[in-house]
Amino acid sequence: MSLQVFLESLDSLERQAREQFAGVVDAAGLESLRVEFLGAKNGLLKSAQKQLGTVPATDKPAAGKRFNEVREAIESLLEETSSRLGDRTASKPTGPLPDCTLPGVPPHLGHLHPITQTIELLKEIMGRLGFTVTEGPEVEDVWHNFVALNIPEDHVARDPADNFYLQPIDKKKSDEAPALLRSQTSTVQIRVMETTKPPIRIISLGRVYRPDEADATHYPMFHQMEGLWVDQHVTMAQLKSVLRMFATSYLGGDVQIRFRPSFFPFTEPSVEVDFFWNGQWMEFGGAGMVDPNVLTSVGIDPDRYSGFAFGLGVERLCMRRFGITDIRELYRNDVRFLRQF
Ligand code: FA5
Repeated sequence: MSLQVFLESLDSLERQAREQFAGVVDAAGLESLRVEFLGAKNGLLKSAQKQLGTVPATDKPAAGKRFNEVREAIESLLEETSSRLGDRTASKPTGPLPDCTLPGVPPHLGHLHPITQTIELLKEIMGRLGFTVTEGPEVEDVWHNFVALNIPEDHVARDPADNFYLQPIDKKKSDEAPALLRSQTSTVQIRVMETTKPPIRIISLGRVYRPDEADATHYPMFHQMEGLWVDQHVTMAQLKSVLRMFATSYLGGDVQIRFRPSFFPFTEPSVEVDFFWNGQWMEFGGAGMVDPNVLTSVGIDPDRYSGFAFGLGVERLCMRRFGITDIRELYRNDVRFLRQF
């Protein structure tokens, strides 16, 4: 084949490619053009390459140069068309178009457990009254759970809480101090007073454990909010005011407070705290003035400082607020129940 004829056939091949690639509208059309022009066996460029072999040897360099130009042009056309279609086909919906007038499907959002919600609210209210939050361990030693709280080994108050001992981690070490699950958050009072000088104004919220049988108002694991205020001239009147302001904020409305005489080894005097709300008196916890013996045992001078402490049941507070009548519902983990709060 003469050089002239070969070059003319290449010109027409390039023209044909430009027209056909410009008219492609989808990926399938592009693929068939790729096979038609660039196919390894029967593509049009492959046939042109074969014809190049028939051009006279002296004209080969010029023919080869032009052949390479046309091949590169067709390869660029393929790439450009592919990216032009890519943008369009990627966003093209495949199924039926969505009906934007239909109501949406609400996503399933989780939320905080009612006890966690209650704890957050209690922290917020007590924070406004100037109490900072302190944490204490759930696994306690005998000193903090009993002895420092004025409950020596032979004291009757120890009996109902003398439970849930843990095996020492290293059984061979018989001298390891026994550890148990705490039976009240009053342990944190001791931990704070051991390390902090008055004035002290803290609350501590957490789990406690008792061998109580589960019924509508008792559970063997429950939460308490402990409060402690130690300073000069702290009085029982302040205890009553703090609890009244707390109850009014938490329950809403004007809540009255009633103290009933009681006994706790670590407070003197000791009281049970009742709130009058919605027409009835309800017990929420215990309280009292920190016993001078307790202050002495943690190195605070009882002649200079006094303090009050209280411990309220978080589940009971939570149940009142949400109208829950059985404490066991809180721990059945039935999401149909928990979803309501
Ligand atoms: C105490 O635990 C004292 N530590 C409270 C205290 C603190 C007194 C500081 C003085 C100074 P009591 O055992 O009464 O007190 O428990 C306090 C509250 O915890 C109860 O009023 C009740 O609301 C809650 N409570 C007690 N036992 C259970 C239980 N088994 N299940 C759910 N809540 C309980």
